Amino acid sequence: MQLKNGKVALKRIQFSYNHNISTQIYSDSYDSNVKSLLRKLSFCNSIETQIITLLSAIEAKDPYTKGHSESVAYYSKIIGMEIGLSSSELDTLQFAAFLHDVGKIMIDRRLLIKPTLLNETESTIIKKHPEIGSRILSNLQIEKVIVDAVLHHHERWDGSGYPSRLFAYEIPLFARILAVSDTFDALTSNRPYREAIEMRKAIIEISENSGQQFDPDLVKAFVKGLKERHF
Ligand SMILES: [Fe+2]
Repeated sequence: MQLKNGKVALKRIQFSYNHNISTQIYSDSYDSNVKSLLRKLSFCNSIETQIITLLSAIEAKDPYTKGHSESVAYYSKIIGMEIGLSSSELDTLQFAAFLHDVGKIMIDRRLLIKPTLLNETESTIIKKHPEIGSRILSNLQIEKVIVDAVLHHHERWDGSGYPSRLFAYEIPLFARILAVSDTFDALTSNRPYREAIEMRKAIIEISENSGQQFDPDLVKAFVKGLKERHF
């Protein structure tokens, strides 16, 4: 199923997400309810409702990423506009951004909120979230370009990322965009194990990783777009 009339759907998702549902769904008992959540999703009468439910579930589970998906959508849109994506491509890109960490709903909550750095085993578990997310979205028949963006948003331009160690342009465009915007928002947000850094410092860090972690052209587009809008 594809999202028809993306702009209206996106607005409705943003409104419902911000105003209604995110505080209503699941709290600490979440893990035991994952299966019933997924069962309920199959009865949702629209794709928008499914997405809102998924988003709310992720952020109820991981309070430190509250608002993260929305920020990643915002920064992704800046990059998308700078590289000349069409209006419908921008909508699709934002859906991918909203959903990029959806796989975290199946990860143990204790790992998501752990206040210290993860050990190797924990890190391996967390790194499963792109594959889990892409499987969930495939089951919901979300369009492939979104599923692929979710699956590959932790690939690195130099081929050392996960899950597939894709290299440079092997990585789907939307996944390369998400990699930049996701990292930028992570750097500029407080996390359990470190404090946020300011935007200018985050831009320097992103630029230093251009050509290693990130597509250099997308970094250029992002820095240009961000400076025009924020400085
Ligand atoms: Fe992620």
